[in-house]
Amino acid sequence: MVDEAADRLELDDIQRGVLSPRPAPYAATYILLRIDDRDTGRELMRRASAVVPSAAATISPAGDAWISVALTFEGLKALGVRQSCLDSFVPEFQQGMAARARALGDIGESSPENWEKPLGTPDVHVVVTALAPDAQRLERALERGRNAYERLPGIKAIWRQDCHVLPTEKEPFGFKDGISHPLVEGSGVPGSNPAEPPFKAGEFVLGYRDETGGFPPMPQPEVLGRNGSYAVFRKLHQRVAAFRQYLRANSSNAQEEELLAAKMMGRWRSGAPLALSPERDDPGLGADAARNNNFLFGDDPRGFKTPASSHIRRANPRDASVAGAVRLHRMIRRGTAYGPPLPEGVLEEDGADRGIIFAFIGSHLKRQFEFVQSEWLNDSVFIGASAEKDPVSGANDGTGIFTIPRRPVRRRLQGLPRFVITRGGEYCFIPGLRALRWLSDPQT
Ligand code: HEM
Repeated sequence: MVDEAADRLELDDIQRGVLSPRPAPYAATYILLRIDDRDTGRELMRRASAVVPSAAATISPAGDAWISVALTFEGLKALGVRQSCLDSFVPEFQQGMAARARALGDIGESSPENWEKPLGTPDVHVVVTALAPDAQRLERALERGRNAYERLPGIKAIWRQDCHVLPTEKEPFGFKDGISHPLVEGSGVPGSNPAEPPFKAGEFVLGYRDETGGFPPMPQPEVLGRNGSYAVFRKLHQRVAAFRQYLRANSSNAQEEELLAAKMMGRWRSGAPLALSPERDDPGLGADAARNNNFLFGDDPRGFKTPASSHIRRANPRDASVAGAVRLHRMIRRGTAYGPPLPEGVLEEDGADRGIIFAFIGSHLKRQFEFVQSEWLNDSVFIGASAEKDPVSGANDGTGIFTIPRRPVRRRLQGLPRFVITRGGEYCFIPGLRALRWLSDPQT
């Protein structure tokens, strides 16, 4: 018999940043901390538990500002968490993102030896994220966060990345982002696709039943693992000029460029999905949260509207017929843009660093994030087209292929370069609030 009480999410113990979608518009800051002294690290956890809001503290999901605190495996070690607890974390978290580089397609320019320091090094212990609807409220949230770690000798801020919505409210390639997210049972946060049934909370928060009917492996003791989630944080540099040049070189006019961009993404830049508006952009549809994610792919098996190889259809094939169980690879995802926008119409690289900080949240690093990244974005066996990778974020190398199904004959684009370079990242654990307090005095 299913115990419903056991399935009820303890919102007051889950960090708000796990379940709340980012505000739109938004401002965000990521700060990495190193713990040089175990006892001050523990004091930091105590203070953090007092400033991190819970998922119950929200009136409206896009309401106020909040900060989140996550730890890397090295961070847990720096706090002196005992070995038996460390061993209870999943192996991929213990190894860390840099060690998983090959499987993630982080090769060549994207490989860890080329990452921005200190990303991917054992120095990164704590990831503090502040998110707010605007710069003023962000500053106030940061102030609360700084009170927790400043004046603590033994805690050193070693990296910072500021992110902000671009004037266009689009990500750097020019597409509306932050549209599709799963409905998590019991979260109180509305879903984005009425045609997608809600997900068992255990897919995203540890300690609850997931879509398989079982419980995901949870770090021990229970006070540490319960109400926690795994998180992936990646700095992804975007080659915006190269992306624009590619569109220009493979189109004969501006209208065709827009169609090609939409075919690569699966949505027009406005956010309007090809599934609902295959011929032309529909900005009204793109802006309408009630409609812009209300679709499936089952009526388009051959991809005449939305190519099977487009970014959003690869990242979430919905009801399309693919090898594997789509619902086991869904993710909570947050993208925030950094760097100055490349001015409209510019086709030459200006040397500026711009892109997104990609964030994943879920219970399963391997079957959610790593699977989507390696099997769906960087491989195509699942759609029966082995030589293709995601045309937008895939690990292409200048010989990439992208197929656009068309009548009477498909269009096959060649020579796709890599538009997105990994600058670094970390696998993290986002503890619940009780767990943060426990970490301030873990029995070692
Ligand atoms: C710089 C790199 C990337 C860019 C510019 C980008 C951009 C976008 C955009 C514009 C959307 C559509 C809007 C939305 O549904 O929110 C989207 C959707 C999505 N992306 Fe990405 N993305 C990038 C990397 C990634 C990576 C690395 C992953 C996973 C490993 C990923 C997974 C997803 C997923 C799951 C969706 C939602 C698909 C759906 O449910 O329709 N993206 N992305």
